[in-house]
Amino acid sequence: MSGPGFLDEDVPMALLRQRAFNLRWATLPPGVIALTAADPDFAAAPPIRDALAEYARSGVYPYGPPEGLPSFREACARFQRERRGVPAEAAQILAVDSAAAGMLHVARTLLQPGDEAIIFDPVDFLFAASVEAAGATVVRLPVDPRTGTFDPDRLAALVTPRTRLLCLCNPHNPLGRVWRREELEAFADVAVRHGLPVLNDEIWSDIVYEPARFVSLASLGPAVARLTWTVSGFSKSHGLAGLRVGFVHAPDAAGLERLAERSLCRTTMTGASTLSQVAAMAAMEHCADHLAAFVAHLRRMRDLAVEQLSQVPGVSLRAPEGTFVLFPDVSALGVPAEVLVERLLTQYRVAVVPGAPRWFGPGAAGHLRLVFSTSEGILREGLARLAAGLTAPR
Ligand SMILES: Cc1ncc(COP(=O)(O)O)c(C=O)c1O
Repeated sequence: MSGPGFLDEDVPMALLRQRAFNLRWATLPPGVIALTAADPDFAAAPPIRDALAEYARSGVYPYGPPEGLPSFREACARFQRERRGVPAEAAQILAVDSAAAGMLHVARTLLQPGDEAIIFDPVDFLFAASVEAAGATVVRLPVDPRTGTFDPDRLAALVTPRTRLLCLCNPHNPLGRVWRREELEAFADVAVRHGLPVLNDEIWSDIVYEPARFVSLASLGPAVARLTWTVSGFSKSHGLAGLRVGFVHAPDAAGLERLAERSLCRTTMTGASTLSQVAAMAAMEHCADHLAAFVAHLRRMRDLAVEQLSQVPGVSLRAPEGTFVLFPDVSALGVPAEVLVERLLTQYRVAVVPGAPRWFGPGAAGHLRLVFSTSEGILREGLARLAAGLTAPR
């Protein structure tokens, strides 16, 4: 049984219907269950709400330092050292107005038009979007959705004289993989051999299910740490997507300088809101118990969803080791994912994301992606509708 905070009555549905955009409740007709974008359905933890309320009540909201509040940068560096086993100093941290913005700033710092960047296929669309926004070309490294693995020799073979960046998503959205140490070592080996920097997205690193263990790329040793640009945020583990806050951990202070310049934060044209940094500090420093309870709830929802979906004829899936997304293969149904998604939405009133190239790359074909970061009651109803829609005669 899930504890308080994650029950049906803890889902603030009226507010979600007003406030949850980005493919979610506020964008869908009433009565549709939103299992779309990866955003929890629960309110943020009490220490975050208290910290926000106290800062908001003070009424004093001046400009903060462009790179982020010193206390925020310290908190992020401590988080990296103590929770991720990665050497870090505050001078290497840039506060950003979302992990998405962090990815963009890193890509724009490291890439020029004509360069190539290697990303997984499938993977969250933000990787391709960041690389392309920097004017560079995306090169895709297949991850086999059935086994969830990539071939390090294939990665090495994709490196050309124009390659300037490797991208890692750990844990991986949408496959839910938590890369094992040996896999990361193989990845790091290619980066180090070719002297290639890595855009390392760890936004999902708090959402990991035992026996899987999260290993941070930069913890593997100084050679790879010197190449690693880690991006993280608070949208998944703490439900702060609307506060638009995250951080980048640059390999060194000189890298941070380049990143800060390129991000334009010193012009005041970009940067993270001080209020959001206050919330993120509370998340890092005072929410360990809440997060553990959330992950325990998610684990139950994962097991429930995997068990139910595996019974649907024509659907196959792997249980994610981390994240709160599922990526079922529905290709055996013989209906394009986009058509299925439309049918599920209009006839069965459940919304999921199609495994379309624009969201995850060509390697996502024949899949759906759905989230289970909701209450048991909502998830059961959503899964029942999904099963009905996927088994209906065509
Ligand atoms: C892998 C990955 N990176 C980044 C993001 C974006 O996070 P944020 O809301 O902090 O921009 C997401 C959100 O789905 C994600 O899955």
